[in-house]
Amino acid sequence: MVILVTGGAGYIGSHTCLELLRAGHQVIVVDNLCNSSREAVNRVEKLAGKSIIFYQADVTDEAALAAIFAQHTNIDGIIHFAGLKAVGESVVKPQQYYYNNIVGTLVLSKMMAQFGIKNIVFSSSATVYGENEIPFVETMSLGVPTNPYGQTKLMSEQILKDMAVAHQEWSVVLLRYFNPVGAHESGQIGEAPQGIPNNLMPFISQVAAGRLEKLNIFGNDYPTPDGTCIRDYIHVCDLAEGHVRALEKLADKSGVHVYNLGTGQGTSVMQLLTAFERVNQLHVPYTIAPRRAGDIAAFYADASKAERELGWRAVRDIEAMCRDTWRWQTMNSHGYD
Ligand code: NAD
Ligand code: UFG
Repeated sequence: MVILVTGGAGYIGSHTCLELLRAGHQVIVVDNLCNSSREAVNRVEKLAGKSIIFYQADVTDEAALAAIFAQHTNIDGIIHFAGLKAVGESVVKPQQYYYNNIVGTLVLSKMMAQFGIKNIVFSSSATVYGENEIPFVETMSLGVPTNPYGQTKLMSEQILKDMAVAHQEWSVVLLRYFNPVGAHESGQIGEAPQGIPNNLMPFISQVAAGRLEKLNIFGNDYPTPDGTCIRDYIHVCDLAEGHVRALEKLADKSGVHVYNLGTGQGTSVMQLLTAFERVNQLHVPYTIAPRRAGDIAAFYADASKAERELGWRAVRDIEAMCRDTWRWQTMNSHGYD
C-alpha cells in the first residue's frame, strides 16, 4: 500500500514508518518539523534500506496538502500522527492546541473526501477515557479530559466518527495509545524531547545521563501498592507494529474501529525507576515531590480486543523498554542534534 504518514518524523511516526517500509509499503511523510528533525527520516531510510518521500508541510495548510494529494494519486491510506502533545503546554496555549490538532484533522478529512481516500488510522490516547474503571476497555463510555490536549483527541475522534457516517465506505481506525516508551533496538531512532521532558521515561534517562540532576516523583501517597502512579508502558516498536497490523487488517473494511494499544500490565513510577536502574546497572537519584495536577492514580489497558481481532499484542517487556531507551540515550546524548 501507499501510506501518507502525517507527523512521520516524530517519535511514534518514525518507528511506524520503519515498520511500514519493512512490511513492503511505500511511505510519504508530511511533517512541519515543529517537534522533530528531518534526520529521523534519514535514519529510518538507512535502517530500512528504502526511501521515503518527504514533504515539510503543515497539515493545517489546506493548499499545501491539496498539492501533495494531487501529486500522489495512488495513496491508499493515511496514518495521522501530526499533532501537539504536551499536556501542560496545552493548558497554557489552548488556542494553539485546538487549532493545530483539530484543524489538522479537519483538513485531512476534507482531503480524503476530495481525493477519494477511504482509509485513515488516527493516533488517539488513553486520555479519552478520563478517570474511569480499570482496565480501560473500548466499550466504556468516554470520560471528560481535564486539559485541552485531551479534548483535541476526543474531538478528533468524534469528527472522524461523524465523517465515517457521512462516507459509509470509509474505514476509520482509532488507536488509543497507553504510555509509549523505548526506542528502536538499533539506537538510531528514539524520542528526542525539546527542552526538559514532560514524560517519565525520557526524564529518568536524562537524569541517568547526568543532563538533569534528579527525578521528581510526583506523589507517593496514591492508593496504589507503593503509593506512586501506575501506567501501562508500551514499547514504541510494539506500537508501530500495531499500526501496520491495523492498516493491513482494516483497510477497506468500512466503519469505525477502535483499539487500545497497551500491554495490559500496570507498572508504578517506582517500579519503572528501579527496573531502569537494574537493567542498565546505574543509579538514578530521585526525590518525592507533590502530586502533579491532573494525574490519575492508576490506569492500564484491556488490550484483548486488538489481540482477538488484529492478532496483535505487545511482546516487549519493561526490561526491553528500559534497555532500548538507555541505548538510544547513550548513542544520541542530544537527540538528533
Ligand atoms: P511527536 O511530537 O514526536 O510527533 C508528532 C509529529 O507531528 C512531530 O514530528 C511534529 O513535528 C509533527 N507535527 C505537529 N503538528 C504538525 C502540523 N500541524 N503539521 C505537520 N506536522 C506536525 O509526538 P509522538 O509522541 O510521536 O506522538 C504522535 C501522535 O501520537 C500525536 O498525535 C500524539 O498526540 C499521539 N499520542 C502520543 C502519546 C505519547 O505519549 N507519546 C500518547 C498518546 C497519543
Ligand atoms: N512522573 C513523575 N515524574 C516526572 C514525570 C512523570 O513522577 O518527571 C509520573 C507522573 O506523575 C505519572 C507517570 O509518571 O504518574 C507517567 O507520567 P507521564 O507524563 O510519562 O505520562 P502520563 O500518563 O501522564 O501521560 C501520557 C501522555 C499523555 C497520554 C497518556 C496516555 O503524556 O499525552 O500518557 O496515553 F494521554
